[in-house]
Amino acid sequence: MNLQSAQKRLEELKLEINEHNYRYYVLNQPIISDAQYDLLMRELIDIETSFPNLITTDSPTQRVGATPLTAFDTYSHRQPMLSLSNAVTIEELSAFDQRIKRMLNKPIDSNIEYIAELKIDGLAVSLTYIDGKFVSGATRGDGATGEDITSNLKTIKSIPMILRENSQYPIPHLIEIRGEVFMTHDELRRINAERIDKNEQTFANLRNAAAGSLRQLDPTITASRKLDVFLYASGYIDGEGFDTHLHMLDAFKSWGLKVNPRSQLCQNIGGVKVYIESAGNVRNNLSYDIDGVVVKVNSIDMQEQLGYVARSPRWAIAFKYPAMQETTVIKDIIVQVGRTGALTPVAIMEPVVVGGVTVSRATLHNEDEIIRKDICIGDTVVIQRAGDVIPEVVQPILEKRTGQEIEFVMPDECPVCSGAVEKPEGEAVTRCVNIACPAQTLGRIIHFASRNAMNIEGVGPAQIEQLINRNLIHDPADLYTLKIEDMLRLDRMGDKLASNIISAINKSKNTTLPRLIYGLGIRHVGEHVARILANHYGSLDALMVSTEEELSMIDGIGPIIAKSIKMFFEDEHNKHVISKIKNAGINPQLTVSVKESPFTGKTVVFTGTLKSLTREEAEAKARLFGAKTAGSVSRNTDYVIAGEKAGSKLNKARQLGVNVLTEDEFFNLLNE
Ligand code: IVH
Repeated sequence: MNLQSAQKRLEELKLEINEHNYRYYVLNQPIISDAQYDLLMRELIDIETSFPNLITTDSPTQRVGATPLTAFDTYSHRQPMLSLSNAVTIEELSAFDQRIKRMLNKPIDSNIEYIAELKIDGLAVSLTYIDGKFVSGATRGDGATGEDITSNLKTIKSIPMILRENSQYPIPHLIEIRGEVFMTHDELRRINAERIDKNEQTFANLRNAAAGSLRQLDPTITASRKLDVFLYASGYIDGEGFDTHLHMLDAFKSWGLKVNPRSQLCQNIGGVKVYIESAGNVRNNLSYDIDGVVVKVNSIDMQEQLGYVARSPRWAIAFKYPAMQETTVIKDIIVQVGRTGALTPVAIMEPVVVGGVTVSRATLHNEDEIIRKDICIGDTVVIQRAGDVIPEVVQPILEKRTGQEIEFVMPDECPVCSGAVEKPEGEAVTRCVNIACPAQTLGRIIHFASRNAMNIEGVGPAQIEQLINRNLIHDPADLYTLKIEDMLRLDRMGDKLASNIISAINKSKNTTLPRLIYGLGIRHVGEHVARILANHYGSLDALMVSTEEELSMIDGIGPIIAKSIKMFFEDEHNKHVISKIKNAGINPQLTVSVKESPFTGKTVVFTGTLKSLTREEAEAKARLFGAKTAGSVSRNTDYVIAGEKAGSKLNKARQLGVNVLTEDEFFNLLNE
């Protein structure tokens, strides 16, 4: 290749790669595969390696090329980067609207057009383009001068190095474009997992992670973190400006800049309020964080008339949602004992409002978690609630340590029964090993009566605790011995309530088998596993006599679950409680009137995707016809029924010479 043809091909490749970058990173609509893209990049790199003189700063290969800096240069914004005043109530928003009408001499019942936008919780940046070329980028800093982070911004693939020409919106000679650099939840999870592995402190939130990644002196670090950008304002413009904010966003889009797709034109402040409500509803489903909604007067003319106060424009306001993260102080760490004997440390905190809810306690899960997060009593910590999720301690703020903090120590005996505790090698959880520990008894009965188990209405933790303290119950089965007189001994209990509770207890006798199995509180047996067991065995009696081997053959039951089930039913105390439950008249069965068929007494294995039934349904059907079902193929298997995309089990069946049937053949045989 000679210099001339290299130059020509280089230009073609740069154009083509930039186009694909735009489609992939800005539009989210790639038209070639990653492999095809890599091929183009490799060709570009090859030519640039042979002809280094041809490398230009706007080449796609130069996004991560810069050498680490020792410090950032300062950068003077040509037009200051402002902040926004806040509204936290709808009344404050209405006041903003009225103020604007007053200043513009508009009637109070007139309509002002607004653009409502998500307030992205990231890091504000300013990008400068001269004649359509990205020349520099900076942080906000104090609004007048920021830090020059050009090399780092170049690593963000959704920032175009060259703006796309567009006949409707001529590109100004020089334009400062403002926006927000942010990170997604997925990316933060990835980075934090990596940091945990390396024993580094994790980032508390997306904003810190984005800021920490962008303000790196070594751009290769920035490049290794997936950052993204939304552009939403302009600064200084040398060239033609815009008449409305909406047209500005439109122009940005046409130039290949990434604009948030949820910005919306509202005819008046009423429309803005609707937007705020619906944005609040989607807030927890976005892949990035928002902390509010920014409301802007659409007309640039009006914006200019309204002007600025101090450092905020009068034509815009930020409506802030309640913060999902707060800081508070851990006053103490107590230890609770659950139904499985697990000792769970719980942080008792100075009450604080997070996302609109007052929070004063949060589980710390286990000792390892406390060590990993380096949490001490007395620490100032970041806590968060995500949606309806229970509050969580994210991390301590190490800068706030005074030296007075106290390290948490797991007690070496059960804080409830003073019995021995155990922390098996390799496990995170410390357990009280005393099966008769009152805390475990309480936990087991609460679980038994709970909504997804026996669903006994009116019997919650408070009632159960009193029943135990008054020696009225000692295990779940004792609930069925209770009489109205017993209930009347509890606090705040009247005749009506007592009799309602007794009927609720009686009603629960008609429960289903999966609920009963789940309610027993066998370790590792949640609702899903309970359903599998119920379908497989059809009765508690059948389940109780199953062997560990048989259990672990069932699809969805691994060796740990199998072992735990076996241990549970071998325990004398558990056997005693179960016989009491059965004596109370609780013995749900799955209807299994077994029919004769060619499969009676045979072991069958289903594999692959079936057309007409789920695997579990097919297995239940086979059992109804007398078959034994298993999850894996062995010499004992009589038939393998293979659906579509059957893999290793089918191969094994062929190796062992086991009969293989198609789904249709299986049903035909059943029908015979
Ligand atoms: S407009 C003159 N729009 O919020 C108006 N700001 O407190 C300049 N922000 O520093 C800002 N999303 O970092 C605007 N859609 C959006 C925004 C937004 C997030 C941030 C920005 C700014 C801060 C204002």
